[in-house]
Amino acid sequence: MRQKVIIDTDPGIDDTMAIMLALKSPELELVGLTAIYGNVSCDQSSINALKLLEIAGRRDIPVAKGSNVPLFIEPHRYATHVHGEDGLGNSNLPVPKGKVLDISAAEFIVKMVLKNPGEITLVSIGPLTNIALAARIEPGIIKLVKEVVIMGGAATVRGNVTPVAEANIWQDPHAASIVFSAGWPLTMLGLDVTTKIIQTEEYLNEIYLANNTATNLIKAVMPFYQNFYFKRFGSKNIHTHDPSTIAYLLNSKLFTVKPIPVFVETEGRCAGQTVPDFCNQWGTQTHANICVEVNFQGVLDLIKKRLMN
Ligand code: BDR
Ligand code: CA
Repeated sequence: MRQKVIIDTDPGIDDTMAIMLALKSPELELVGLTAIYGNVSCDQSSINALKLLEIAGRRDIPVAKGSNVPLFIEPHRYATHVHGEDGLGNSNLPVPKGKVLDISAAEFIVKMVLKNPGEITLVSIGPLTNIALAARIEPGIIKLVKEVVIMGGAATVRGNVTPVAEANIWQDPHAASIVFSAGWPLTMLGLDVTTKIIQTEEYLNEIYLANNTATNLIKAVMPFYQNFYFKRFGSKNIHTHDPSTIAYLLNSKLFTVKPIPVFVETEGRCAGQTVPDFCNQWGTQTHANICVEVNFQGVLDLIKKRLMN
């Protein structure tokens, strides 16, 4: 049986690659995309989600629009300097014809989990607001979700938006705190591993040779992202953030995982920090499966093979 997946996303250039990777993977059944603010507003990210599915010829997959703001704090800036004003590298892709569902992202998540008990994997590649809201609307889903797989956080390395915080957690630390402490099986792919999986220009150019819908789409959105990396790090090599979640679903053996309680700081200058309590000194009951190491070549080979197929 194919693994049922909902991707909660703020497309987003690396989100685009993650979604295409999921669509190219026959083991996965993408039952819906739920849109969240983050890289852009949720108004824009839901349009982008529709766009990506239409270009991929998958109008059958529903899109639910989520929250435009974090749970309690004032919204931070969007990451348009990383992903472009439109979130898709200012690529001017065609305006989508389809519409979002008439229920919210959180309601869609609840509905699908209740309908498919024990079968839905929630993949989060944006701020965690929608998923926290879903758990608040219907706490019963916590026992019914198969797994929550998160791109976010930094357990043993520095942050990427503050010295300690990764962007997705920083955007809504309260939501992240709810999600990390809920008690469902949760796997965290943070900067600890995603920054070790490096896609060079040469690697991307090889992928583009496939000249299929997915690779052409990635080729259209990617230059803006590469230019951001060039400005920040002096090289057009990019990190593999969001696609790592899908690689994990396809072959978890590529990652070394440790069950460790994770505390999310919600206040002050360390807001958004994911603190691993390695020796369980705080006595927390819930553990996150933290990916601490990765077979980066294995992940790169997997992504390339799938996208080029
Ligand atoms: C995360 O932040 C966003 O900009 C990316 O899409 C990814 O989800 C990386 O920190
Ligand atoms: Ca993202």
